[in-house]
Amino acid sequence: MTAPAWPYANGPRHIGHVSGFALPADMFARYQRMAGSKVLMVSGTDEHGTPIQVQADKEGVSARELADRYNGVIAEDLHGLGMSYDLFTRTTTLNHYAVVQEIFKGLYDNGYIFPQKTMGAISPSTGRTLPDRYIEGTCPICGYDGARGDQCDNCGNQLDPVDLINPVSRINGEKPKFVETEHFMLDLPAFTEVLGRYLRGKQGGALAWRPNVLKFALNLLDDLQPRAISRDLDWGVPIPLDGWRDNPAKKLYVWFDAVVGYFSASVEWARRSGDPEAWRAWWQDPDALSYYFMGKDNIVFHAEIWPAMLLGYSGKGDRGGKPGSLGELNLPTEVVSSEFLTMEGKKFSSSRQVVIYVQDFLARYDVDALRYYVAVAGPENQDTDFTWSEFVRRNNDELVAAWGNLVNRSVNMAAKNFGAIPEPGDLTDADRALMERSRNAFAAVGAELERSRFKNAITEALDVVRDANRYLSDQAPWKLKDDPARVQSILHTALQVVDDAKSLLTPFLPYSSQQVYEMLGGEGVWSGMPELKTVSEEGGPDYRVLTGDYATEARWESVPVKPGVPLTKPTPLFKKLDVSVVDEELARLESP
Ligand code: MF3
Ligand code: ZN
Repeated sequence: MTAPAWPYANGPRHIGHVSGFALPADMFARYQRMAGSKVLMVSGTDEHGTPIQVQADKEGVSARELADRYNGVIAEDLHGLGMSYDLFTRTTTLNHYAVVQEIFKGLYDNGYIFPQKTMGAISPSTGRTLPDRYIEGTCPICGYDGARGDQCDNCGNQLDPVDLINPVSRINGEKPKFVETEHFMLDLPAFTEVLGRYLRGKQGGALAWRPNVLKFALNLLDDLQPRAISRDLDWGVPIPLDGWRDNPAKKLYVWFDAVVGYFSASVEWARRSGDPEAWRAWWQDPDALSYYFMGKDNIVFHAEIWPAMLLGYSGKGDRGGKPGSLGELNLPTEVVSSEFLTMEGKKFSSSRQVVIYVQDFLARYDVDALRYYVAVAGPENQDTDFTWSEFVRRNNDELVAAWGNLVNRSVNMAAKNFGAIPEPGDLTDADRALMERSRNAFAAVGAELERSRFKNAITEALDVVRDANRYLSDQAPWKLKDDPARVQSILHTALQVVDDAKSLLTPFLPYSSQQVYEMLGGEGVWSGMPELKTVSEEGGPDYRVLTGDYATEARWESVPVKPGVPLTKPTPLFKKLDVSVVDEELARLESP
């Protein structure tokens, strides 16, 4: 299972978002399918909680209207990126509500959820809960002015909003009121031991996690506290207990419902596939692997809270218990988290116009150019800056001048001289060495992709392309007019490597790989693309999902090209960008 994090339905996605949760997941899923694994990729929009409510208030619409609006926008963003979801749904479906409530009840029945009275901040003007991080004030420990209710970024201490000096709401500047309120708590300390065993098991071996992710998760174990999983809010999944179910002002915390989404979406996918039990193969078979993709601000929810919820539901924390009615559920195999992308040295910010939205990017540039940039220069292991000059440089020097050029000159020469893929004559050592080189790259690039090392993987694949360009320059078939047999062998070799390289690059560049596949005589769909579809749910409104048929021709192996396949003059794979693009885009950043 490939599980990309659920984007909040509170605005269009920008490239900082999708470089973390989306594109790496799709590269991984496409590779796994090519390598012969069965893949289920599910996700959806995250539509509850304060992030939605705050934006709805800003836009002057209801939370539900806002969620509907941005569910549609985001589904289109992800469609445009070629995200090959088996199901991209949303958290406002009746199915999701029912599954979330089932998980809550399982945890509650096993004693891992209990009610507690606490002091909570509310906004006097709206009566709604003010979440900790939406409160700002002076740090009671170091005196820093801009401390948030949950922590101080200056001294790094965890804070309680009640202790802030001069607390104000970051939403509208008013002074929060602290009132007694009752909430349901998830008993995280009851999972310290079992989570510790789980996480320490990820320290080494073939399935080891990225070191920063693991270190962060292990550190959290030192001080696990019970965590409130309900909120004083009217927008969310109802609490499934008598006396609470119909309370209009108390709902489950958005993160509690959102992480269950991976599971509820699998259940929905199974139902839509015609086999309602099909989710079990992904959640209960001990051999099923699950990979979760996200930005680093999501680690605590995926490496701590979601595993604790799954363990508690399965009856495996300190308090024991028995599995809920759906049975024991698998824990994440790996939490693959990226670091952050910045934009020209600054944090992405919609309000300050430091942003490039997916839809604007795709209106001006090719989707594969973005996918390439994210793979080769994305925030895989450290915070990374996106700059337009680097984007243009990589597009022109690497995509256009290396890969595009190899395809173009090989196909062009073969089309002009032979009108078809030529039969090879006697092969030289150089021919054989290059073909062996590209055949062997499948194992090497595959090993990197297995471990979500996208940067290494695409660099290896591009090295094959560079070697092939060097080979063509060395062999210089254009100088061998009087030795057509030799020209045939050279171009046959080059086209074989072009065909291999398009396979190696498919997880990253599925659109241009489809084009190369067709240029070399391939028929039908090489690597499948998602489609937007309207679906219905009994008892609820229709909604749109992303889904697709990904049982395609793409294989992770070298397939011999077929001599005699007709070739025509190729159209360029990528657009060369004028350097003026850099100034244009920088001007857009400064003046919206
Ligand atoms: N909506 C959250 C964010 O954008 C991510 C939720 S991932 C989930 O940060 F699966 F856990 F829901
Ligand atoms: Zn401080």
